[in-house]
Amino acid sequence: MAEMAEGHVIIERRGAVQVIRMNRPEKKNALTRAMYGAIAEALQSGDADPQIAAHVFLGVPGAFSAGNDLTDFMAVAMGGEGGSEVWDFLLTLVQCEKPMLSGVDGIAVGIGTTLNLHCDLTFATPRTVFRTPFVDLGLVPEAASSLLLPAVLGRQQAFAMLGLGEGLSAEKAKAAGMIYDVVPEDALEAAVLAAADAIAAKPREALKLTRDLLRAPREAAVERVRQENGLFRQRLKSDEARAALAAFMNRRK
Ligand code: COA
Repeated sequence: MAEMAEGHVIIERRGAVQVIRMNRPEKKNALTRAMYGAIAEALQSGDADPQIAAHVFLGVPGAFSAGNDLTDFMAVAMGGEGGSEVWDFLLTLVQCEKPMLSGVDGIAVGIGTTLNLHCDLTFATPRTVFRTPFVDLGLVPEAASSLLLPAVLGRQQAFAMLGLGEGLSAEKAKAAGMIYDVVPEDALEAAVLAAADAIAAKPREALKLTRDLLRAPREAAVERVRQENGLFRQRLKSDEARAALAAFMNRRK
């Protein structure tokens, strides 16, 4: 059964696996507030549904996600009210109760990278590059990436990504332990779905206890999301962010 949620997110249930597909190819899967809302709702309803054992995030060929929609950021930068969708999504992501997997092909910018730090297994393709150019946008890290990325990469590699905006190839991400595996484009979705099916076949309670033990104390990540979010909201209205966002909006004119 497949249904369109908010038009740009497709939720599909495959047995005990809930597939959440970002599907806005014309904008490289840049996430709008409505898309964040739809994804948060899917995670919450999947968590509450005893039939569901795991969540899988997918994108479209060549684009997992280009990150937050910069038009939405611009609206806040110019004084608009940002809404609660992103915040709800981040808290839901950090506190998700069931295993999350992701299949990343191509563009993975901002939340398109940081979302994977919350996943239990991420598969990516050779052409994938992970990018977190928050500083270039006059912003600060989000989704607890300021806590989770140094924990997995070490502080210097995390600084190169979060401070300097350097990209990280899928191969390097795998070597560093940031993602689970690199597979060819045409094998990506089958690999992720097979892993999700394997998870779904495990004894649920034992797997849940094991996952909870493996993850960093949740409170620390929630607290970091809160801290980052406070700074992020201030930064969106800064001259640095306004200038960077305007540059993106005007880049082809
Ligand atoms: N927000 C809004 N629109 C976005 C977007 C974003 N984050 N990323 C891409 N788009 C739009 C582009 O404006 C373009 O729209 P148009 O066709 O109406 O002009 C369309 O998606 C295709 O993007 P394009 O830039 O032509 O594709 P590309 O393959 O040359 O480059 C990126 C892809 C992701 C490298 C580039 O679009 C980019 O840098 N985007 C911004 C990424 C970003 O900073 N995200 C926020 C992180 S916090």
